Amino acid sequence: MSRVFTAEAHPNIAVVKYWGKRDRALNLPAVPSLSVTLERFRTRTTVTWGIDGPEDEVVLNGAALAGPSADRISAFLDLFGADRPRCRVYSDNNFPTAAGLASSSSAFAALALAADAAAGTGHDPAALSAIARQGSGSACRSLWGGWVEWPVGRAADGSDSHGRPLAPQGHWDVVIVVAMVSAGRKPVGSRAGMLRTEQTCPFFPAWVESAPADVAEARRAVLARDLERLGRVMEWSTLKMHSTMLSTEPAIRYWKPATLAAIQVVEELREQGVGAWYTMDAGPNVKVLCARADADRVSLALAGAVDRVEVLGVGADATVAPAVS
Ligand code: DP6
Repeated sequence: MSRVFTAEAHPNIAVVKYWGKRDRALNLPAVPSLSVTLERFRTRTTVTWGIDGPEDEVVLNGAALAGPSADRISAFLDLFGADRPRCRVYSDNNFPTAAGLASSSSAFAALALAADAAAGTGHDPAALSAIARQGSGSACRSLWGGWVEWPVGRAADGSDSHGRPLAPQGHWDVVIVVAMVSAGRKPVGSRAGMLRTEQTCPFFPAWVESAPADVAEARRAVLARDLERLGRVMEWSTLKMHSTMLSTEPAIRYWKPATLAAIQVVEELREQGVGAWYTMDAGPNVKVLCARADADRVSLALAGAVDRVEVLGVGADATVAPAVS
């Protein structure tokens, strides 16, 4: 009899960024990072362990996947058993996929949780996070809600490079205002972008060297609930990361005119005394960190610069349960 489990995970946004790898096969990061999990946006994934037929069946947002995207899911499922049966994976996101909104973080976290339950492998959370990391690095941080660190680790097999919860969802009631510039797919994926950065950016070593201090600063800021301190280091990490992207050959520029317009809005808000700080990932969207009390003012101001604005609080842990048919 096949086993069917459904998991839900929320995407996370890095406040100190992961960009670059020290090991491609194991997907180990060159830098430590620290993230906040988002509420409301989620991936829901159902895994059926054991189906008839010659191949795995993978359906994302209602469309069957084939080729390299489907192969990536099958290779990931192999991590739960080399001689596993064929599986079915149904997954959907309630937010735009691959638009710099960290959909791979929630996708591989939900897939890892559902596959672990359906396969009956029973990994502990740290081991499961290390497996999720092999699907997509940022996914190792999405097993937990609240604030999560991901250290580089020392072990050759990568077993100590996984998410570590720093503070739970209820620790601090801040919001992330997502300013959506474009819901289209990104020009260069994170994986290819990181490789190009490692290979051609002359500043990459400096980026790697400066990251641990940024994580330490962000950790202190989160624990002290010091928004300004966190916002400053988040912007610095963001701009350093995008500087490495812009100085690759050929350059990787994720920003669009509306990205800069949104940044300017945030800077103007700060001049007016509103505590708001921005970050961007491998895409043009701008995410703004602020106090809940300022969320309306910040979103109103951003609405003048971008297509769509969403206010998201801090999200909860990923969950898994037997699927209901
Ligand atoms: C810019 O986790 O998507 O969002 O490990 O190659 O799958 P892979 O990369 P991915 O990269 C995320 C990069 C980032 C910053 C971050 O989330 O830390």
